[in-house]
Amino acid sequence: MCLDEDWASAALVNDVRRGFGRVPRSLPPKWLYDDRGSDLFDQITRLPEYYPTEAEREILRNAASDIAAKSKADVLVELGSGTSDKTRVLLDAFTANKQLKKFVAVDVSAATLRDAADRLSAKYPGVAVHAIVGDFTLHLSSLPVGGRRMVAFLGGTIGNLFVEERSAFLGVLADVLDPGDSVLLGTDLVKSSDRLIAAYNDSQGITADFVRNVLAVLNRELGADFDIEAFDYVPFWDASLKRMDLRLRAVGDQLVRIPRADIELELHDGEEIRVEISSKFTPDGIADELETAGFRVDGFWTDSGSDFGVTLATRL
Ligand code: SAH
Ligand code: TRP
Repeated sequence: MCLDEDWASAALVNDVRRGFGRVPRSLPPKWLYDDRGSDLFDQITRLPEYYPTEAEREILRNAASDIAAKSKADVLVELGSGTSDKTRVLLDAFTANKQLKKFVAVDVSAATLRDAADRLSAKYPGVAVHAIVGDFTLHLSSLPVGGRRMVAFLGGTIGNLFVEERSAFLGVLADVLDPGDSVLLGTDLVKSSDRLIAAYNDSQGITADFVRNVLAVLNRELGADFDIEAFDYVPFWDASLKRMDLRLRAVGDQLVRIPRADIELELHDGEEIRVEISSKFTPDGIADELETAGFRVDGFWTDSGSDFGVTLATRL
């Protein structure tokens, strides 16, 4: 399970060609997380408006020992692990009774991943810590086998997949897991559009910088000439599809050359590029999707503000 070390890989070229060839123009979210993007995301998690991180941390603090007992897992796999900061709450509970043998972190962002893995192996000497640079939409079939596994997918990152990608992802996950293995899924819950928009458009502009950074990635990796300041960040709440839709809007007509993808992109004033969606869920909706994929829900926890949900589900 390994992503090309080279960022200007065929994957990026393909994603750019495919994403810019359709309307709305779009890019897969994983390209947001180069070193600078990962650092900006880490800052987002500490913003007062971005409630999901603290809500999920509160849930994990209250439920971690229950999760450890119910899952009986001795191998913890984390997908899209980032800094694995909240994961320490789980690791504390899973090591308190010496249940855990192995922790495997999977992320596309190599530097952040290695940093996190180094810190965790120092903090949890009794646990074998592994770091895998990989894409959870492509490389699940190479997850380590053996032991009683629990796959943690936190931060609401599953909401960044489109609904059909989500069902494919859960299907592949069920397929690679054995009966008795489990998944721990963090999902942001539907709430007022005001709070959602504030969470994705903070007053300090860090989220806007994070989203615009994807254009800097294209400039650097593909030799593109995006004028990054000539894009407004426009997040909106799509109430019918229950998702935040996070876009960049061209200010003025623009002709962008992307030499390493061999394309010229003509953008008209006001034209938008979708950089990410972030779907919001209801407890029943989450349970339905997990059950359809072949899991049984064994626990659902929410924070005191009912903002975020964490679901434990066992592969049947
Ligand atoms: N789990 C952390 C980080 C969430 S941000 C938290 O809850 O705070 C999303 C993380 O997923 C980032 O670290 C990003 O690098 C990673 N990521 C995004 N798309 C990915 C993909 N397709 N495959 C693997 N990792 C991905
Ligand atoms: N997984 C995070 C979420 O959906 C990612 C995220 C947070 C994000 N803030 C963002 C993605 C702003 C794009 C723009 O909440």
